[in-house]
Amino acid sequence: MAASVSDALRAATEWLRASGSRSPRRDAELLLANARGVDRTELFRAPERVLTPVEERRFDGYLVRRQAREPVAYIRGHRAFRSIELEVTPAVLIPRPETETLVDVALEVLAALPGPGAAASGSYEPLALDVGTGSGCIALALAAENPYVRLVATDVSEAAVEVARRNAARLGLGGRVDIRHGDLLDDLPSRERFDLIVSNPPYIPEAEYRALEANVRDYEPRLALHGGDDGLDVYRRLIPGSAGRLRPGGVLAVEVGAGQAAAVRALCAAAGAFRPAQERADLAGTPRVVFARLSTRHAGG
Ligand SMILES: C[S@@+](CC[C@H](N)C(=O)[O-])C[C@H]1O[C@@H](n2cnc3c(N)ncnc32)[C@H](O)[C@@H]1O
Repeated sequence: MAASVSDALRAATEWLRASGSRSPRRDAELLLANARGVDRTELFRAPERVLTPVEERRFDGYLVRRQAREPVAYIRGHRAFRSIELEVTPAVLIPRPETETLVDVALEVLAALPGPGAAASGSYEPLALDVGTGSGCIALALAAENPYVRLVATDVSEAAVEVARRNAARLGLGGRVDIRHGDLLDDLPSRERFDLIVSNPPYIPEAEYRALEANVRDYEPRLALHGGDDGLDVYRRLIPGSAGRLRPGGVLAVEVGAGQAAAVRALCAAAGAFRPAQERADLAGTPRVVFARLSTRHAGG
């Protein structure tokens, strides 16, 4: 006999729990909503509704993939980040809640730039750069939440660039977010300068990478996660390079892994071009963002 929404959820929750999911009820709800092509809240409006054979087959297929530890966001093909919904594929990192802290810092920096009046009249156009954009989550959230900023977003993965471009187009932000293929700062036109450079680079050290849970290591791109032996490889290139890419008074803001903030602040100091770097903690209290303003002696190389 065909199952109702509540029966299907109950059975799937038990099955996912037994197969090791840490959030079996939530996973079951998200996957069933996707299988039915409805919003999650719709499940609670009509729990007695009977699934069609197509919905049941689709849901079963999703559960088998989830049992093999595939992340829910890849199975669904999309993920919410702040106010926007993003397509995600295995070519891009699934946006993490802690990355919202970097967006918060970036929005504060943008808000302190010459006022909306100047931007609106065209006398000043704030320009930001997102390095390693992945799904485009940071650049697109900034464009969605600050109507004046224009952004360049780069990634060395061509497949990620395609996903980010689709996200920009679907969100109607393609006109203000220019997504390009490139290796960190190396492929930018030589004269391009930014008020703000943001990045959530790959920062997981080798030993931690090997110990990652299967649902991350086996599915999410190594290129998005692995930061070399101590996790700091990309910062070592990006931080000194950023100094010459900032407009006078510009800010570099990067996400860091747990325990990396002091080392990344030291890299900013060693670049010799920034005022003392600051840190911002995420909601769990972990220092998550390091940011530094170009010192007045440096006017963007
Ligand atoms: C941790 S993921 C962050 C993705 C996205 N910004 C986010 O916050 O979800 C790091 C991203 O940097 C990209 N990346 C790695 N090395 C790079 C390089 N040398 N130049 C540009 N992008 C790079 C990866 O492809 C990946 O998309």
